[in-house]
Amino acid sequence: MNWAVVTGAAKGIGAVISEHAVKAGYLVSAWDVDADAVHRLADRVDGVTPCVVDVTDEVAVNDAMAALPEPPALVVNNAGMVRFGPLLDLALEDWNAALQLNLTGTFLVGRAAARRMSDIGGSIINLASINGVAAAPNAGSYTASKGAVIRLTEQMAMEWASRGIRVNTVAPGLIDAGMSEPIYADPDARRQRTSHVPTGRLGTAEDVADTVMFLASEKASYITGQNLVVDGGLTKAVLAGLARPRSVDGGPR
Ligand SMILES: NC(=O)c1ccc[n+]([C@@H]2O[C@H](COP(=O)([O-])OP(=O)(O)OC[C@H]3O[C@@H](n4cnc5c(N)ncnc54)[C@H](O)[C@@H]3O)[C@@H](O)[C@H]2O)c1
Repeated sequence: MNWAVVTGAAKGIGAVISEHAVKAGYLVSAWDVDADAVHRLADRVDGVTPCVVDVTDEVAVNDAMAALPEPPALVVNNAGMVRFGPLLDLALEDWNAALQLNLTGTFLVGRAAARRMSDIGGSIINLASINGVAAAPNAGSYTASKGAVIRLTEQMAMEWASRGIRVNTVAPGLIDAGMSEPIYADPDARRQRTSHVPTGRLGTAEDVADTVMFLASEKASYITGQNLVVDGGLTKAVLAGLARPRSVDGGPR
């Protein structure tokens, strides 16, 4: 059986990715700082082994990677956080916290994985966000950290391709799960945000997990260094609301 490491696995999108990885035949080492929640996940899903580890702690990450019974075939850097606020008011502590988890955690886990994987190759998938490809109100340090994750992924892909390791990013859009649940609990925010999505609905944790499992699969064996945006077309619709005079093409004003 192949081992998969999923970070931030206890809740939200990470828990659903873990379930999908088990269905795809992996044994999942579920890494999280929330000990109760990660044990609950393991009790609920056969094939999941809980591991309490802080991905920003270099020693803990290296120890947890070394403790795996076999080199992992799949690593999903999913642990992440957002600290909302406009840059003008953003505290250095909030800036550092998001960079530390979203970017440095991805580096530490990716590096430890690649060192362990190097004999057999495998797939690393880093969770970014549409905030990594476009600025957003009050996204503060989140946008900078997720943009950097996309670039770090390209660097990892280039450096580790010769070791048989593919590295890609998944950038979820407006997802009705995990850290965004409080946003979508407000019906007005839900309606307003959904109205911007060309496909007419919010995304789900399953949409993200399906994309992760596609990139992990043999069907994606020639794909590396890419960022796959899962957003129902949102980030490609920036021109959707623009008027164009009838004198040009007879379309709506
Ligand atoms: N939910 C969304 O709307 C959305 C949209 C775009 C991108 N994303 C990204 O998807 C990923 C998962 O998001 P989510 O919504 O499921 O988040 P979540 O807050 O529901 O879950 C994050 C998990 O990470 C764990 N975690 C926090 N710090 C950790 C650390 N130092 N070490 C190990 N684990 C730690 C938490 O305990 C939690 O279980 C994140 O990288 C996030 O940025 C989410």
